[in-house]
Amino acid sequence: MTQITLALTKGRILKETLPLLKAAGIAPDEDIFSSRKLVFSTNQEGLRILILRGSDVPTYVQFGAADIGIVGKDALLEHQGDGYYEPLDLGIARCQLMTAIPVGAPPQKGRLRVATKYINIARQYYAEQGRQADLIKLYGAMELAPLLDLAHEIVDIVDTGNTLKANGLEARDMIAKISSRLIVNKAAMKTKRAEIQTIVDALAKVVATEL
Ligand code: PRP
Repeated sequence: MTQITLALTKGRILKETLPLLKAAGIAPDEDIFSSRKLVFSTNQEGLRILILRGSDVPTYVQFGAADIGIVGKDALLEHQGDGYYEPLDLGIARCQLMTAIPVGAPPQKGRLRVATKYINIARQYYAEQGRQADLIKLYGAMELAPLLDLAHEIVDIVDTGNTLKANGLEARDMIAKISSRLIVNKAAMKTKRAEIQTIVDALAKVVATEL
């Protein structure tokens, strides 16, 4: 029996992913949220689920440790890897990748300091804008950086805008529209084509009916 490994992104993407999988006939054998396990068997023989950080999902799929992944476009843009296809926009966990500054802050003259966990995306964005920017890598709570003068602005995900507002920031420029994507390891797409195509088709059908 062919073993298929599906890597999911934990956190808010997972909450929207599980109903989608369920509608496609895939369900983990136990409640993921009340377990500390990282690997789950499912109702489908030969199909298991991994629970990963979003930034690790492209890595697992690129190297074939997972055959399929569900991950935010932000993580894919930042990963800048190859070795996988991106056959399906799942349309879930929609948000925007934006720059944000303190409310009413005047334009920064001279060299800009930018705090973000999206170093690769930010490097490319500011280069395209023709702006000199020193990038400061953070792993979370980006919104704090301008308040503490660590940076002039941030690059981060904005969904409702509540986190920006609660920290005295405002969105400025949009860098990319984000949603979760299905990715498939290129080699697995050949060696496990039938099994993978069945999953891709089932999810595509669910997405199409939910649009
Ligand atoms: C994201 C992001 C913002 C927040 C934006 O963090 O980094 O902090 O959500 O959402 P809002 O516009 O609705 O307030 P998340 O809570 O996903 O945690 P993370 O920092 O671990 O990614």
